[in-house]
Amino acid sequence: MVWWFFCPNITYGEDALSDLETIKGKKAFIVTDKIINGLGLAEKVCRILTQKQWEAAIWDGVEPDPKISTVKSAAEAIKRFGADWIIAVGGGSVMDTAKAAWVLYEKPDVELHALTPFDELGLRTKAKLICIPTTTGTGSEATKAIVIRDDETGRKFATINPELTPDIALLDPEFVVGLPKNLTAYTGMDALTHAIEGYISVWKNDFSDGCSLQSVRMIFEWLPKSVENLSDLEAREKMLIAACLAGMSFGNSQAALAHSLGHSMGSVLRTHHGMSVGMALPYTVEFNCIDGGDAAKQYSELARMIGVSGKGDKKTSINFAQAIRDFMKTVGCPASFKEAGIKKKEFNAGLEKMVEFAMMDTSLTMNPRNTDSEEIRKLYQYMFEGKTVDF
Ligand SMILES: NC(=O)c1ccc[n+]([C@@H]2O[C@H](COP(=O)([O-])OP(=O)(O)OC[C@H]3O[C@@H](n4cnc5c(N)ncnc54)[C@H](O)[C@@H]3O)[C@@H](O)[C@H]2O)c1
Ligand SMILES: [Fe+2]
Repeated sequence: MVWWFFCPNITYGEDALSDLETIKGKKAFIVTDKIINGLGLAEKVCRILTQKQWEAAIWDGVEPDPKISTVKSAAEAIKRFGADWIIAVGGGSVMDTAKAAWVLYEKPDVELHALTPFDELGLRTKAKLICIPTTTGTGSEATKAIVIRDDETGRKFATINPELTPDIALLDPEFVVGLPKNLTAYTGMDALTHAIEGYISVWKNDFSDGCSLQSVRMIFEWLPKSVENLSDLEAREKMLIAACLAGMSFGNSQAALAHSLGHSMGSVLRTHHGMSVGMALPYTVEFNCIDGGDAAKQYSELARMIGVSGKGDKKTSINFAQAIRDFMKTVGCPASFKEAGIKKKEFNAGLEKMVEFAMMDTSLTMNPRNTDSEEIRKLYQYMFEGKTVDF
């Protein structure tokens, strides 16, 4: 069977930004958000290009979990400017907006909702894409995925197409050193969830496995260091690499149940993506390993690599779920809705919508264990209380 592995060219390390000087082009459109713009990070990129006589513009209209209307505004602005490079400077929200706006800039008739992995878009006739992440989690700089929010329903939907893989991912620790503690922890848990789900997804393959193994190893070592000392540049660089590797893994194998649960929490309760999928992760490990089959074997391989043991694959996987909970405590990520400060009333009011959205989420189809709405509801209820999954 023929299979493909997609990833961008990657430039990384201290002063990786200077690599921009080697790029050929004339007009760069920089997509970012107001916070990142306020920190001067987009301006850093702009300065390098204008010194080389490029024309460059900064557009900072992205909001967390971007809506289709935001993507359309970005595409309009790119069209008015006429870019030959689009440069995303930001977290997953900015990078996904830039990727989706790039599609509409090149192909205005594309319906983002209806985009499939098999469509031949014919991108790169007008522009190419560089992603410079300012968070250490989503790995969007390395994936062919976008996650956008529907304006009317509020539902976050993920879609993939190989042509959406950025041309260049530029990983410079200076761009993440200012990331606050909670976002460092949350986005780090997003990366861990990508690495683990990429390893158990039904589309897992030898290439994605390699990326997952190294990413899991690095996150367990370097995320606590990043959180403990926010200005530790080495830890920041290692987490940038680990998140990118995790993106390369799940981008080529796909995410699973924790992402279905997390996307739907984010849609309904507006919780941060990394916090949501991270919270769901240990519950999904327990749920997927229950029959002691392939998933249990795969989780236990990861568990043993980080020094967690147990009698048999199922018990090792259950111990792995507990090790993930302990890790979340160390880095400061809530392990239940209660710990996240979500009140029972708010949870109950959103529960049925979360179940409905989770059942519609594409990541569900990649999960090794089939599930239904009743089990999804039960999983959310266990996640509210912080109960170990026993079904
Ligand atoms: N396309 C993919 O492959 C993929 C993968 C995972 C997640 N996602 C999506 O990415 C989004 C989440 O992205 P995220 O977790 O990077 O967060 P984000 O981009 O939504 O940013 C969260 C907040 O952090 C701020 N921020 C970002 N960088 C900062 C910095 N260096 N210093 C200070 N503040 C900073 C932002 O301004 C924003 O307010 C979600 O919509 C999620 O669904 C996409
Ligand atoms: Fe994610």
